[in-house]
Amino acid sequence: MDAVLHLASRPGGGAPTHRVDVLGTRRLALAAGHAGVAHLLYVSIVGVDRVPIPYYRQKLAAEQVVAAGPVPWTVLRATQFPVFLDRLLRAASRLGPVLGDPAVLAQPVDQHEVAARLAELLATGPLTGVQEYGGPQVLRFDDAVRAWRVARGSRRPLLPVRLPGRLGRELRAGGLTTSAVPTGRRTWADHLADTYGRPDRR
Ligand SMILES: NC(=O)c1ccc[n+]([C@@H]2O[C@H](COP(=O)([O-])OP(=O)(O)OC[C@H]3O[C@@H](n4cnc5c(N)ncnc54)[C@H](OP(=O)(O)O)[C@@H]3O)[C@@H](O)[C@H]2O)c1
Repeated sequence: MDAVLHLASRPGGGAPTHRVDVLGTRRLALAAGHAGVAHLLYVSIVGVDRVPIPYYRQKLAAEQVVAAGPVPWTVLRATQFPVFLDRLLRAASRLGPVLGDPAVLAQPVDQHEVAARLAELLATGPLTGVQEYGGPQVLRFDDAVRAWRVARGSRRPLLPVRLPGRLGRELRAGGLTTSAVPTGRRTWADHLADTYGRPDRR
């Protein structure tokens, strides 16, 4: 085996995440070292080094395990996949209105484009470094919600809830976004059109 592409994760934070993402990554890195693997490519998330979310702390620790391990490595940090944002908005509107901080910034990137980027990085070989990859647009949460409501024909209003503390500050300051180029091409609007149909064709 020439390379290992490490995507496995147990989101959520806490002990199960630590077991899979940190300890599991360590086991994988050691096993790959013993097997003479020439490249370990690990998928992480833009903002793991800035945004204080328990899951992100574990992803950052896993990055450090990869970097300290015996195998030449690359880390690709991607921004949020649109399917994840979609799921988040459905969860945030379970009680009716969509709850969220209107000024939080996001930069959804199509997961197929992330997969293509990973394939390119496998072909390139180990960079011994971290690369970032984001979508083509930085969106405010309220704009993302507006487009989502139109796409779904939903009347659910946005109920603004300002996120407190450092978490809120980082998210509003663009902690989940990146200026790295190249970016993906597919937009949030493209995802919504694929998933719910173009509003003018419904
Ligand atoms: N979702 C996003 O917006 C996003 C953005 C940037 C980066 N990422 C990163 O991209 C990767 C994939 O994300 P995702 O959203 O596709 O995650 P996901 O849906 O939670 O998938 C995680 C996968 O890991 C597998 N897994 C969990 N524990 C495992 C173990 N001990 N051994 C082997 N496989 C295990 C799971 O398999 P089972 O289902 O069988 O448990 C599942 O297929 C993750 O590393 C994530 O941090 C995600």
